Amino acid sequence: MTYLTVYTDADTPETLLRTEDPAEISAALKEIDVLLRHWDVVDDLPPGAGQDEILEAYREQVAKVVAEEGYTFVDVAQLHPDDTADWAERAAAARAKFLNEHTHDDDEVRFFVSGSGIFYLHVDDKVHAVLCEPGDLLSVPAKTTHWFDMGTTPDFTAIRFFHDDDGWVGDFTGASIASRIPDYDTIAAGRS
Ligand SMILES: [Fe+2]
Repeated sequence: MTYLTVYTDADTPETLLRTEDPAEISAALKEIDVLLRHWDVVDDLPPGAGQDEILEAYREQVAKVVAEEGYTFVDVAQLHPDDTADWAERAAAARAKFLNEHTHDDDEVRFFVSGSGIFYLHVDDKVHAVLCEPGDLLSVPAKTTHWFDMGTTPDFTAIRFFHDDDGWVGDFTGASIASRIPDYDTIAAGRS
């Protein structure tokens, strides 16, 4: 279930809202032009399913969104803990990639097949931290300042939708806001 926390972007951020209520979350995100939709989760996907199998399982939903919104490329990104020697290093590198505030020229659209991650949307003087879980399809409009935290133990599978080949490149703002707002581990642990 999606979990939304809203903060001020002050030097010492204050928490304005914490909610799991779907209607409240949709309304709060609509105010900042962010669309959150929900698909039924396909629960018979085997662990370790690859991109083709995942896209096939969600073929109809994906095709509908692609047709409606003109995406030209769809793929699957996934990261799961394993016992390889370089896991910790790979996890930290993956997490660091988009952990600072940035924008993209394309929308950032993700459907969470499994696991979770937090999109932090910095619009006007607030930060909406959207903890996405399986079934959540989040569309962050191009040019929205945001960052993404997959936590210190990344574990997720997400379908990604793109309009163009280079639109995903991050344009980093240099702002320090991401370091002032509670991170994935803190928000996930504090959720009750
Ligand atoms: Fe991004």
